[in-house]
Amino acid sequence: MFDSWFTTSIEKIDFSMTKVISFISRKGGSGKTTNAINLATSLNKIGYSVLLVETDTNYTLISSRKLELFKRKEKEDQHFPILASEDHRIAEEIKALRTKKSFDIIIVDSAGKTTDQGIRELCLESDMVVITTSLTQNDLLVTYQTVKDLLPAKEINRQLKLCILPNRIHSHTRLKTVKEVLKNLEAEIIDTYVPQRKIYTSPSTITAEKKYLNVANQIIKQL
Ligand SMILES: Nc1ncnc2c1ncn2[C@@H]1O[C@H](COP(=O)(O)OP(=O)(O)OP(=O)(O)O)[C@@H](O)[C@H]1O
Ligand SMILES: [Mg+2]
Repeated sequence: MFDSWFTTSIEKIDFSMTKVISFISRKGGSGKTTNAINLATSLNKIGYSVLLVETDTNYTLISSRKLELFKRKEKEDQHFPILASEDHRIAEEIKALRTKKSFDIIIVDSAGKTTDQGIRELCLESDMVVITTSLTQNDLLVTYQTVKDLLPAKEINRQLKLCILPNRIHSHTRLKTVKEVLKNLEAEIIDTYVPQRKIYTSPSTITAEKKYLNVANQIIKQL
């Protein structure tokens, strides 16, 4: 019963080409990895063919997946793939994957330490960049700078959407208030936010979190 509610409440959009959504922020710990995983499992659950790519050489995602597979006694090929890449080759890899059209959506979790060059190249190959931010003064300052740095990429890649995903927001905060705080950023604001919740502290790379489904839907709608 839970499963039918889960999948029928969201409509899958038919994309004629592979769409690339990249999580980028100059702020370490802003929620890129957490949201990349939750978005991937949610979109996979809705029925999209998903590839999740990490450019962080800590290989957090690959390791988490391996651990989960081990605990569940399952095999890698039973689930959507996770690929390890690096800043200097991610753009080329995306180009090749686009040509093959094997996936509806590629989600890239970039590292906090990604260089300017790495960020630029990734932006040129992305359809959407999601910048995760909390509403603390420090996060907002870094987010403001991240958006400023990414804006020139829109001149070259005309289809690129820069979107802010408010993350770790107190769950009683009104969306209107969140948008008010972020309104001066030259980027679109995703029409919802991700609350600060324990369920998001160790996300599964396999099982989708029901509460994230609306967030995934709002992100996809803005593609
Ligand atoms: N919505 C949330 N609710 C609760 N905890 C969160 C939420 N989002 C992120 N966190 C926690 O904040 C920490 C940093 O998150 P995460 O690793 O996703 O950030 P990151 O941007 O990928 O960091 P880095 O730049 O180091 O790659 C993690 O411990 C994570 O569990
Ligand atoms: Mg990360």
